[in-house]
Amino acid sequence: MTVKKAVIPAAGLGTRFLPATKAQPKEMLPVVDKPAIQYIVEEAVASGIESIIIVTGRNKRSIEDHFDRSVELEQTLEEKGKNEILEEIKGISNLASIHYIRQREPLGLGHAVLTARQFIGDEPFAVLLGDDLMMAEKPALRQLMDVHEQTGTDVVGVQHVAPEDVSKYGIIDTRTSRGLVYELADLVEKPSVDEAPSMIAVMGRYVLNPSIFPILASLEKGAGGEIQLTDALRKQCTVSPIHAVSIQGQRYDIGDKFGYLRAGLEMALSRPEMRGQVLSFLNGLCGKIAVRQKTHL
Ligand code: UTP
Repeated sequence: MTVKKAVIPAAGLGTRFLPATKAQPKEMLPVVDKPAIQYIVEEAVASGIESIIIVTGRNKRSIEDHFDRSVELEQTLEEKGKNEILEEIKGISNLASIHYIRQREPLGLGHAVLTARQFIGDEPFAVLLGDDLMMAEKPALRQLMDVHEQTGTDVVGVQHVAPEDVSKYGIIDTRTSRGLVYELADLVEKPSVDEAPSMIAVMGRYVLNPSIFPILASLEKGAGGEIQLTDALRKQCTVSPIHAVSIQGQRYDIGDKFGYLRAGLEMALSRPEMRGQVLSFLNGLCGKIAVRQKTHL
């Protein structure tokens, strides 16, 4: 069955990025000139998604405003003849059919997905985390949807991580592998490197069957006092196969300060109109640092 609906959970507290996230959601932090969540909506649309539900929390009004029309702004841009940016601004509000639902308390990612149950109904759906940017030739979500369309199973996006990063992620234990696709035997949430069954971590993209909802609804709070999506997937794994796809592309965790800086720099380098300026700035900076290091020797 083709996947037409997606959930973007964006109701987390963003504590790793305080104080920037005190009064605004991390999903609205700009990466070059677009808020992070716009890249995610664009990835969903490029993958073939038609309807999106964004799960919002406190301080999330700016997300709704961003994807809504701004008649006053459009009028001013029109009067000033700024046609290029006017078209871009109009395009944002026409990207997809976007809906919102509020997660009253940030009770975890699993709880955020469960909040979208009524909107999704009885069909497979995608989940794209609001703070995980994926830059890929073939959109990351499309890579998962292709496997789901062949297998009909739940599919999670994964990438290899360094041993020192294993404890930050859900790590998969694999039963079989064929090219870029694995069948899961189990998942472990944030294991120590000695306990990790692999170095393959779940990244923020999922295609799920609606059978995940009753499992989520039955879960007790898990790690961190939150309803964990990983716990639901572990249960699902015992009754039906789950596949993992090794996502081909670059991923940035913009909820992490360094991940955010990297995203901004690399995205700017990928823009032809900015590349030269950024490269010459970086070269100059490296030169200055090298001189400083020499003088301290
Ligand atoms: P994270 O764990 O990265 O988000 O959740 P967080 O809790 O905001 O982060 P820190 O650790 O406090 O900095 C992954 C995604 O799930 C959403 C977040 O907004 C993020 O996009 N999320 C998380 C929810 O929507 N609701 C929740 O209760 C928790």
